[in-house]
Amino acid sequence: MSAVKHIGVLTSGGDAPGMNAAIRAVVRTALAGGIQVSGIMRGFSGLLEGEIEPMTARSVSNIVQLGGTILKTSRCKSFYEEPGREKGARMLRDAGIDCLVGIGGDGTFHGLDKLSHEHGVTVIGVPGTIDNDIAGTQFTIGFSTAANTALESIDKIRDTAASHDRIFFIEVMGRNCGALALEVGLAGGAEGILIPEVPADLERLSDVIREGRQRGKGSFIIVVAEGALEGGAAAAAAAVQERTGIRYRVSVLGHVQRGGSPTASDRTRGSRMGTAAVVAATEGKSGLMTGLRDGDIVLVPLEETWLGETFIDKSLLGVAEITAT
Ligand code: F6P
Repeated sequence: MSAVKHIGVLTSGGDAPGMNAAIRAVVRTALAGGIQVSGIMRGFSGLLEGEIEPMTARSVSNIVQLGGTILKTSRCKSFYEEPGREKGARMLRDAGIDCLVGIGGDGTFHGLDKLSHEHGVTVIGVPGTIDNDIAGTQFTIGFSTAANTALESIDKIRDTAASHDRIFFIEVMGRNCGALALEVGLAGGAEGILIPEVPADLERLSDVIREGRQRGKGSFIIVVAEGALEGGAAAAAAAVQERTGIRYRVSVLGHVQRGGSPTASDRTRGSRMGTAAVVAATEGKSGLMTGLRDGDIVLVPLEETWLGETFIDKSLLGVAEITAT
């Protein structure tokens, strides 16, 4: 006999490709186990407004290939405050929902954790963010697609950079985490990668460019994580021009990185973690996030997802440097 009878599922924070695969997995795994399931629209904001809709297996037909989230999403300020969460818990109770599965990132997990501690709601988190900045899991849903999307743009910029012998500073998303920049920087053959986890050494970057030019290198791609330094790619570029006298171009990739049809990896990760969330709830577990480590599903206490260290392999900076000489 399952510990839960009615699961509510929502997506919250920045959307990420593969969230739909996770929603589909939650809905169909729940229904297969005889558990009722409802979709909560627009994240915690929709919960507070009672935007709760019953879901059937057909509600999630033909969505596995779609970017974005069919449940829509939001960043909900009221949920940071206790009265907001009190209302959210009441809305869940009124709808007869006894377990909430939240697909999102750091903000989503804080909301879930508080709901569980303050109001005894059974909660399970599923990591969905392009930033890959969640501790306890090696992969978040959306990271793979965003990396491939950014890479496609970087490859295109390289064509024009090579044709004009130019230096491009390309800013990628990631909030305070350099995982996306590191991934696309290495994969895109960047001559420089700036990430928040390593203080930006613009003197050294200038030397790399000067020395590269002396060795006959014409063009350079410098990938800058948005959180690497104040002012992002534009600030890094200006500082390097001041030191080298070489002109540059800046390209901020922006929200294009959040869209598009999810890669196979994001679809399979979304499906696996969505199913695992329901299984955990049916086993009476709560206050946990489903994650992936070394290919296996793991369950991580929500608190550890923001207190622990994110998986980021800084040694890859060395690999990028040596392979881009
Ligand atoms: O967390 C995902 C993310 O895309 C970050 O990389 C970025 O800093 C932020 O969201 C942008 O937020 P918004 O879509 O609210 O501008």
